[in-house]
Amino acid sequence: MCGIVGYIGKKDTQAVLIEGLKKLEYRGYDSAGIAVFTNQGLQIAKAQGRLANLESKLEGTPLVGSAGIGHTRWATHGKPSDVNSHPHTDNSHKFSVVHNGIVENYLELKDELISQGHHFVSETDTEVISHLIAREYDGDIVKAVQKAIGYMRGAFALGVLTEYEPDKLVAVRQASPLIIGIGEGENFIGSDIPAILQYTRKVYILNDGEMAVLTQDSVELMTIEGNFISREMIHVDWDAVTAEKGGFEHFMLKEIHEQPKAYRDTMRGRIDESGKKVVLPELKLTADQIKNIRNIQIIACGTAYHAGLVGRSAIESLVRIPVETDVASEYRYRSPIVTPETLVIVVSQSGETADTLAAMREAKANGAHVLAITNVVGSSIARDADDVIVTLAGPEIAVASTKAYTSQLIAFYLLALYLAEVRGTQTPEAVAQIVAAMQALPEQVESMLAKPDAIKAYAEHISKHEHLFFIGRGLDYAVAQEGSLKLKEISYIHSEAYAAGELKHGTLALIEEGIPVIALATQEAVLEKTVSNIKEVNARGADIMAITHEENVAGLLKSVDQAFAIPKTLPLLTPALSVVPLQLLSYYASLARGNDVDKPRNLAKSVTVE
Ligand code: M6R
Repeated sequence: MCGIVGYIGKKDTQAVLIEGLKKLEYRGYDSAGIAVFTNQGLQIAKAQGRLANLESKLEGTPLVGSAGIGHTRWATHGKPSDVNSHPHTDNSHKFSVVHNGIVENYLELKDELISQGHHFVSETDTEVISHLIAREYDGDIVKAVQKAIGYMRGAFALGVLTEYEPDKLVAVRQASPLIIGIGEGENFIGSDIPAILQYTRKVYILNDGEMAVLTQDSVELMTIEGNFISREMIHVDWDAVTAEKGGFEHFMLKEIHEQPKAYRDTMRGRIDESGKKVVLPELKLTADQIKNIRNIQIIACGTAYHAGLVGRSAIESLVRIPVETDVASEYRYRSPIVTPETLVIVVSQSGETADTLAAMREAKANGAHVLAITNVVGSSIARDADDVIVTLAGPEIAVASTKAYTSQLIAFYLLALYLAEVRGTQTPEAVAQIVAAMQALPEQVESMLAKPDAIKAYAEHISKHEHLFFIGRGLDYAVAQEGSLKLKEISYIHSEAYAAGELKHGTLALIEEGIPVIALATQEAVLEKTVSNIKEVNARGADIMAITHEENVAGLLKSVDQAFAIPKTLPLLTPALSVVPLQLLSYYASLARGNDVDKPRNLAKSVTVE
């Protein structure tokens, strides 16, 4: 999730771009850059790290001009570095591009452009865009951009400048947000409202498949096919803080709502064109190495560990390789058995968690091949691992992890399917069925997010309690553990997650009249047994809420006080849906208790001590 800003007008362009980028800082980034038309032509400055690094670079040699584009990068293709930072240019240095999103077919396009004599300097997918535009340019930048995007597959928001037409700034939106800000004798583009809010409150929101051509005095909106469109101008009356949160009250709620996009982005480019097969071109692990894997160890902390529990089920059921899961802080102290045929999967949103890093180094030292699932490309864990699958959730700001967790689930499903394909443990039809169900998940999440009221009301109810239980079997138990952690960490309500069948071996003693119990009952194969366990707590007077499927609601209501239905998917994929009401539950419970939702007490976003 990168940030774009663009300006055309009479103000100090460099200052407008830097100020705009500062307003996007809250999203997190690993490098930044700007391109400005100066009287020496199109000049680019970029720097890895914080915006201050770029500002120091510009000190003494400012880029003075009347139009420019700027970018903060959150690395996806290619590590964070000066050269991989945006804006990118072509070999003539006459075109400049900033880009958010992913060009899925960039490798194909890059090979073609190289064969035509283009020379590339970065590892990014974005550089391909500037070369394509340069190749297609024939005196009209709008047409060149339209032709270039005709070759591209994927998601992109673009800002484009060419030295040949210095009075124009071209913007494109295709599945990655972009807005146009309207000023007096000046106009702006931004990936997000905060980038331009200090200059104007009048905006056009581009829809997918639309573009805009900006001059100082005009904005033309059109489809990417070139048909002109008209659009109502919106007046933004958010304050700066609300704007950073995209209009949501908290980052956590914003990030919960970003999950459909995170699912789509994490799958993008990893499902082949037939839509039936998983491809993981980023893996160095060879087919022979995959065929030789004897055992897998999944190591992580907190929420990432809970994603690992789902990952274990996915791999064991689809690939039939034995999988162990460990919390990273314990892994080293149990003398784990590692051989060169052991695949160790470390999971970490931040890629900086000290416990996970230490466990990973131990596994590597013992000869394991280490594959990291992380959300941060240039992180320590990503750098030290032999292989990396990047989750494309974008920066997560709230301490409570939500979209990072669900993107980790998607990464695990993709990995399990890929291993199954290589080892031939699933038929192509079975793989295609799972892939199709995965592609339906984002819409199913959207449908739940559109109706938060029942969960909100239930959250207000439990917010008055000090203790509660989550129960479930199999994958429901894995999700129960995540639901319980989420609730504890931000609402400060004490909760425990139990394997539903284990209650009767001790914990049932704690069930008394009125204690809330949240029962996950989505796994049809163990539903009858879960219902028996629900009856055990019902008989002791518990106040029970079930999360289940529509067809089970009526039956369950004989033993529970209320039931919340989630959309139906394959049992293995259900955690990617059933966790959503639990995230909302902890959010609203924390809100009802007046807590600081995004910054809960005693916790940090990245835990860099063991
Ligand atoms: O950055 P990581 O994924 O390695 O972090 C691991 C845990 O510290 C993290 O998931 C923590 O449990 C979250 N605050 C949970 O919401």
